[in-house]
Amino acid sequence: MKKILLDCDPGIDDALALALAAGSADALEVAGITTVGGNVDLSLTTANALALREFLEFGDVPVTPGSAGALLRHTVRATHVHGATGLGAVVLPAPERGPSEGHAVDFIVETLRAAPGEITLVAVGPLTNIALAVRREPRVVEWARDLVIMGGSYTRGNHNPAAEFNMLADPEAAAIVFEAGWTVKMMGLDVTLTAMVTSDVLDRMWPLGRLAELLVPAAQSYGVVTAESGPAIHDACAVAYVLDPSLFTCVPAVVNVETAGLYTRGMTVTDFKVGDRRANALVATSLDVKRFWDLVLGAYERLAARLG
Ligand code: BDR
Ligand code: CA
Repeated sequence: MKKILLDCDPGIDDALALALAAGSADALEVAGITTVGGNVDLSLTTANALALREFLEFGDVPVTPGSAGALLRHTVRATHVHGATGLGAVVLPAPERGPSEGHAVDFIVETLRAAPGEITLVAVGPLTNIALAVRREPRVVEWARDLVIMGGSYTRGNHNPAAEFNMLADPEAAAIVFEAGWTVKMMGLDVTLTAMVTSDVLDRMWPLGRLAELLVPAAQSYGVVTAESGPAIHDACAVAYVLDPSLFTCVPAVVNVETAGLYTRGMTVTDFKVGDRRANALVATSLDVKRFWDLVLGAYERLAARLG
């Protein structure tokens, strides 16, 4: 059984990543969900995480709110993509239970301290909480089994031509995380943009009962679904990597996050010519899309059977 701690900013694709984790309960235990301001404000990402915890029947998994904004920068949001609530057209029942006491950064440090080598950090929002955890207790780098992120790219941006959203939203935090001493598993836009909900995929979501009430409006409000293309469910790639790294081709690289550029702030400058330097990242360069959807839809189908 693999264990993860998921740091997220739900976020439509964060919700679909959480659904993948919930549907993979036979192989994956979620030790906690932490939230960060990102796609929408922290109050909304936390409210969405709480609603998703109950809708997806995560039971007692703690939801702990973290950082509201970037370490240094003005706030950047993605409401133009995720809608005012952060979940697009999805409407979930109001949660009955509130968040855990305390702060996500403490939760991350203490959870990893208690189980060194066991828990993989999966970060699918701006890296503010992870950077603060590293600053507060540098040994989290040793204690984490692994760090898998959705973020960055070696070819392009999405929020602007240079930068992917999670990197742009807190470039200093991203720089701290990439420089911390671990080997970041980077699921960037280069692969996540191939994880598209096409009409064939959507056709397999419609019959999924209650779960379809999340999946279908999520996909439809996240982008235009056609036979050849559709919205990319970026964040689910990070959870999929934990479940089955063989879905991805990954190449060692030295990644530096641009924090000073006038037009390139948040760019993940990726050098595959590592030479005698230490590779600080393993960068995903391709995804087996068919096997990815077999994994994801299989998990959704199992979850749907549970949820009714
Ligand atoms: C990333 O940015 C956010 O809008 C998504 O939730 C995803 O984590 C994609 O660039
Ligand atoms: Ca996200």
